[in-house]
Amino acid sequence: MKTTTRLLDLTAAMVLLVYAGLSPPIVSGDPGRRVSMTLVRGAAALGAFCLDGSLPAYHLDRGFGAGSDNWLLQFEGGGWCNDVPSCRDRSKTHRGSTRFMTKTAVFTGILSNNASLNPDFYNWNKVRLRYCDGASFAGDTQVGNGTSMLYFRGQRIWNAIILDLLPKGLAKADKALLTGCSAGGLSTFLHCDNFTSYLPKTADVKCMSDAGFFLDAIDVASNRTMRHFYNQLVSLQGVQKNLDPNCTRAFYPEPSLCFFPQYALRFIKTPMFILNSAYDVFQFHHGLVPPSADPTGRWNRCKLNVTACNPHQLDALQGFRTDMLGALMNFFRNSTRGGMFINSCFDHCQSALQETWLSPTSPRIHNMTIANTVGDWYFGRGEDVKEIDCPYPCDKTCHNLIPASTTDSLAPNAPDRKSLGTGSQVFQNDLIS
Ligand SMILES: *[C@@H]1O[C@H](CO)[C@@H](O)[C@H](O)[C@H]1NC(C)=O
Ligand SMILES: *[C@@H]1O[C@H](CO)[C@@H](O)[C@H](O)[C@H]1NC(C)=O
Ligand SMILES: *[C@@H]1O[C@H](CO)[C@@H](O)[C@H](O)[C@H]1NC(C)=O
Ligand SMILES: *[C@@H]1O[C@H](CO)[C@@H](O)[C@H](O)[C@H]1NC(C)=O
Ligand SMILES: *[C@@H]1O[C@H](CO)[C@@H](O)[C@H](O)[C@H]1NC(C)=O
Ligand SMILES: *[C@@H]1O[C@H](CO)[C@@H](O)[C@H](O)[C@H]1NC(C)=O
Ligand SMILES: *[C@@H]1O[C@H](CO)[C@@H](O)[C@H](O)[C@H]1NC(C)=O
Ligand SMILES: *[C@@H]1O[C@H](CO)[C@@H](O)[C@H](O)[C@H]1NC(C)=O
Repeated sequence: MKTTTRLLDLTAAMVLLVYAGLSPPIVSGDPGRRVSMTLVRGAAALGAFCLDGSLPAYHLDRGFGAGSDNWLLQFEGGGWCNDVPSCRDRSKTHRGSTRFMTKTAVFTGILSNNASLNPDFYNWNKVRLRYCDGASFAGDTQVGNGTSMLYFRGQRIWNAIILDLLPKGLAKADKALLTGCSAGGLSTFLHCDNFTSYLPKTADVKCMSDAGFFLDAIDVASNRTMRHFYNQLVSLQGVQKNLDPNCTRAFYPEPSLCFFPQYALRFIKTPMFILNSAYDVFQFHHGLVPPSADPTGRWNRCKLNVTACNPHQLDALQGFRTDMLGALMNFFRNSTRGGMFINSCFDHCQSALQETWLSPTSPRIHNMTIANTVGDWYFGRGEDVKEIDCPYPCDKTCHNLIPASTTDSLAPNAPDRKSLGTGSQVFQNDLIS
């Protein structure tokens, strides 16, 4: 699998070369606010540790004015690890240990405190939950050999952070929104109803998943790569007991399917908003065309630039979109309090970046930005806030750039390349945000 890793690194390098000079002029000019990290001191007593045993952490930016009693919590994303070697590698990086994390976070997009950049949530209390467990905050077990221990304690981290925030004002929240992107967008589905259970009965609680609707896709080699990966992950990290019991009962004897939002969705009682691209780049690269399904690299050019895709490849991408809309159809038709924004841009994570959340050139459907659509849904402005874009290439508001996070593995604090050996590593090493 060494070759796979190298290939992906090469891919990342190419992305840098191709896109570095070509970014469109869509910068908002807002540098974002730098917010410092809070370690959760009480976590140790709850057995809530990052993979390496370090304390978990979050970043809190206090609300003000009319937003003082409103809370927005955002799960950080960053892929997953599904076996001991890949989790051990991760435990030595910022994705598995607060010891290696940057101690400040930049708050932009839905976390911005500038009213003109984030009109509906700018004055709320905003929290970024750092991700260091490798299982979307949902595992609960540990493995060790006597000398070294790996902690799979995501569910306890979630619990410990909530318990830490309750006395800081969350316990008397008036309005609340749980959100997150990528692996954090998946966490949003998994923890939405649990979040509600901690807040006052009178509070207005909702959840918004960004790029977290990971499909139970069949890849271009007819394999269920994602299902296989999640199955291993759920089993390794002891996730099953934290999945919705009504869902796992309904999906017996394959309870790990409830890790997929498309199966868990109908059991969630809290109002949900689903923000996703129908051609989500992470899912394109790892669910539809994982490296194992394209050993000869026929998809390499198409993966980097959709205009290089041949008709057969475009058909596969349109099929993926059709499958995603199919998985959402019940929600689209039947959910009365839900909302959605399923656009057709090649992208991954659109709420945390100012350029895609709200800017003069941000993606739109029916001339609606993501920020306006999410705000309308949250505050009940407008009837049925469910936007579905026409298929590629009709949407002229897309930039269709492989997001900068693809280059993540080349970041200065990226782990040593040599330690990234297994196939499963692609999920944490490539295209993460
Ligand atoms: C808010 O953002 C706008 C648009 O980028 C900018 O003109 C303004 O100076 C910002 N306000 C503050 C207080 O930073
Ligand atoms: C336990 O695991 C650590 C980490 O992989 C390894 O360095 C150590 O040699 C192992 N110890 C035993 C007794 O297997
Ligand atoms: C929420 O999750 C915590 C563990 O993280 C658990 O102790 C609690 O019972 C859950 N609440 C509900 C209502 O399921
Ligand atoms: C399971 O479903 C029942 C019946 O709809 C409901 O009363 C119960 O709250 C659900 N349990 C959970 C944990 O959501
Ligand atoms: C399908 O997945 C299985 C199990 O991961 C693997 O052994 C097989 O080679 C895969 N087939 C293709 C065509 O990728
Ligand atoms: C994608 O490829 C097309 C031609 O195939 C080219 O015109 C375009 O500039 C490329 N886009 C990027 C961002 O490189
Ligand atoms: C919507 O709900 C109805 C009644 O519960 C159900 O029969 C139907 O299958 C659901 N799905 C769709 C797509 O209408
Ligand atoms: C789209 O919305 C902008 C304001 O956000 C407005 O200026 C513009 O006229 C609208 N365009 C159309 C076609 O409605």
